[in-house]
Amino acid sequence: MIVVSHRGPYRFDRDDDGNLIAHRGAGGIVSALGPLLDDKSDTTWIAAAMSDDDRAAAQAGTAGALDLNLRLLELDREQHRLHYDVVANGVLWFLHHGIFDRTRRPRFDLRFRDSWDAFVAVNQEFTDAVVETAAESEIVLVQDYQLALVAGQLRARRPDLRVVHFTHTPFAGPDDFSLLPTDVGADLCAALASGPAGFHTKRWAEAYRQSARATLGRRATVPAPFVASLGPDVAALEEVAGSADARAAASSLADAVGDRLVIARTDRIDPSKNIVRGFLAFDRLLEARPGLRGRVVFVAMVYPSRQGLAEYLAYENEVEQAVARVNDRWATRDWLPIVLDDRDDFVRSVAGMQRYDVLLVNALRDGLNLVAKEGPVVNRRDGVLCLSPETGAYEELKSAAIAVHPYDLEQCAGALDDALSMPLDERALRARKLRALATMRSPADWLADLVRHAGK
Ligand code: F6P
Repeated sequence: MIVVSHRGPYRFDRDDDGNLIAHRGAGGIVSALGPLLDDKSDTTWIAAAMSDDDRAAAQAGTAGALDLNLRLLELDREQHRLHYDVVANGVLWFLHHGIFDRTRRPRFDLRFRDSWDAFVAVNQEFTDAVVETAAESEIVLVQDYQLALVAGQLRARRPDLRVVHFTHTPFAGPDDFSLLPTDVGADLCAALASGPAGFHTKRWAEAYRQSARATLGRRATVPAPFVASLGPDVAALEEVAGSADARAAASSLADAVGDRLVIARTDRIDPSKNIVRGFLAFDRLLEARPGLRGRVVFVAMVYPSRQGLAEYLAYENEVEQAVARVNDRWATRDWLPIVLDDRDDFVRSVAGMQRYDVLLVNALRDGLNLVAKEGPVVNRRDGVLCLSPETGAYEELKSAAIAVHPYDLEQCAGALDDALSMPLDERALRARKLRALATMRSPADWLADLVRHAGK
C-alpha cells in the first residue's frame, strides 16, 4: 500500500552532535494513519520534505530507514511555496472553511495563475513518485486538499492502481466553490470525481457532490462520495498521558493554575479556529459573572502555523493582543486569567486535556476537529465539551456536548458559564457519554474504510 500526504509522519531535526533525529509529526493525518506506523507494515509513505533537515534526511537515506519506507520529495522551493502558501493554504483552505473576506479576497490574477501552475506541477511530482514506486494494482491512499489533483493524474497514468482520495477539511458548497476560476474548479472536481472520494461527515460529502455536479455539469459522472469518520488512537493517547513527560507537564500546569477551574483549548493558530472570539467570550463571561474572577483560568495551548502567509501572521498578532487586553483588564496580583502556551508540544497539550473542566472548540468550520474527541478520552475531571456545530465532530458528539455558536459571543459566554456551573452528576454522565461516542471509531476502522473503497 502507498500513502501520499503533503506533510509526512515524521519531521527531522538535529541533535547537539548534528545527527538527524526523526520525530513523529502531529496533526490529523498522522493520528489517522498511526496504525500503519505501529504495524511496521510494508507501506510506502510519500510526503514533501518541509525543512532543510527533512531534505538532508531524504538525501542521507535516513527517512527511508524508519519503521516504514518514507520517501520525502525534495520539491523546488519556489514552486513548493506557491503550491503550499498561495494555492493550498491561501485559496483552498480559505475556500473550504468559508473564511474569505470577500470584499478583498480572493483575487485571481497572473500571480495566481503562476501559483496554480506550481500547484499542478507539485501534484504531478507526487504522482510521478507513485508511478515509479507502485506495484501492479497496488492500493494508493491520497490525503487532503494539498494533493487534490493526484488521484486524477494517477488514473490517467496508471489505471491499474486502486486509488482513493480522502479530504480532511470541509468542502465548499456550490455558492462558495463558484468563487474559483471556472477551469480551476473544473480541474479540482474532475480529479476527485475520477474515483472514490471520502470525507469525515455527510455534510462535506454532500457539499462536494453538489459542487462537483454544478461545476462539471449534470451529464458528468460523479461517483457517490463516501463518509469515513475518524476516532482517536486511544492506546497511543493513554501511553502519552501516562508518561513521565506528561506528568512533568501536568505539574508545571498545576503551578500555573493551582486548584482553579480551567477552560482549555489546543489549536494551531489558524483563523478558522476562531481563537480570538473565544477570548472575547471569556472576557464577557468575567464581566457578567464577577464571582468567577480569580476562580477560573483559560489555558490556551495555541501555537504558530503556516507563517509564510500574511493572514496567519496577522491573526497570530490579534491572538496575542486579545490575550493582553483580557489579562490587562482582569488580572490581579495572584491571578492571570489567560495562560498562553505557544509551544507546539503534544505532550503539554495532553496534560492540558487531562486537567480541563471545560474544553472550548469554537471553530468557524472544521473538517472534523480530532481534539474534540481526544479531550474526552484523556480528561480526568469529567470536563464539559463546548463544541461548535460547524465542526465535523459535532455530528457525532452533539448529544453529550454543549453547542457554542462560533460568531455569537454572548451565547458562547453563556455556554461557558453553563459548563462551569454544571452539577457534578450531570458532568459525570455527559463525560461518560462523550467518551463512549468519541471512541466509537478507531483510526484502524477509518483506514479499513479507505482500503475497502480503494478496492471497489
Ligand atoms: O486539517 C487538515 C490538515 O491537513 C490536518 O490533517 C493537519 O493537521 C493540518 O491540516 C495541518 O496543516 P499543515 O500541514 O499546513 O500544518
